[in-house]
Amino acid sequence: MVPYAIPTHTDGGSIVHDDGYFDERIAATYDDDAAIFDPRVIDPVVDFLANLVGQGRALEFGIGTGRIALPLARQGVSVRGIEMSKAMVARLRAKPSGADIGVTIGDFATTSAEGRFSAVYLVFNTINNLTTQAAQVACFRNAAAHLEPGGCFVIEVGVPALQRLPPGESIVAFRFSETRWGMDEYDVVAQGLTSHHLTIIDGRAERFSIPFRYVWPAELDLMAQLAGMTLKERWGGWRREPFTSTSAGHVSVWEKPLE
Ligand SMILES: C[S@@+](CC[C@H](N)C(=O)[O-])C[C@H]1O[C@@H](n2cnc3c(N)ncnc32)[C@H](O)[C@@H]1O
Repeated sequence: MVPYAIPTHTDGGSIVHDDGYFDERIAATYDDDAAIFDPRVIDPVVDFLANLVGQGRALEFGIGTGRIALPLARQGVSVRGIEMSKAMVARLRAKPSGADIGVTIGDFATTSAEGRFSAVYLVFNTINNLTTQAAQVACFRNAAAHLEPGGCFVIEVGVPALQRLPPGESIVAFRFSETRWGMDEYDVVAQGLTSHHLTIIDGRAERFSIPFRYVWPAELDLMAQLAGMTLKERWGGWRREPFTSTSAGHVSVWEKPLE
């Protein structure tokens, strides 16, 4: 699952750092991925969010190294973040104006940031980093708790690619080259997915694996309903492409009622 695939090391399947999967080793190279920092990728996200937030304030769940938050702040939007990984936040802080963005360290499913916001956003498939339904529901409730009346929660996430999985199989290869092998391992009973990455370095294989919980658009709508929000818009991408039966992902916006 390439767009989801931010690998990290595991130790017998368990996370070994407080920073979660985005520890120092991952943070050190996160910004080296030119594709996700390409202005052609960033600009439509920033334009969409700036337009939604208007004169209000924005809160990013999983702000990371500020890939979206910094250019959004440069558009004049007041941005805050909640983030689990101190290593990722250290990279944000080291960038020009990065120290001006307030970040609360914690789990975005449960952690509170100061103030109320006109938009909360969670991009780049990061809802899938919450690996239980209960945690994903808690994330929606937490987003709603941070929104002012009429405010919006925005998620960018892939549509589960189960049509690529032959009946009875559990592995889908997403990369196969001389030096990189990538496989997604599906658990269709638990709605789980582990992305495995093997990198061949000097003839030796280094393994990285990261677990996700894939989630359907309709299930997200129900989570929003449980959190007191309703679907306002669903697009196939940040440029407001139509969402269709063949869309690989979606940008969805749920609204908190005006009261
Ligand atoms: C794929 S990165 C995206 C970072 C940034 N939003 C971007 O678009 O580049 C996911 C980020 O979410 C953070 N994260 C994952 N699960 C989290 C959780 N439960 N609570 C807080 N942060 C979390 C990770 O540490 C990482 O920085």
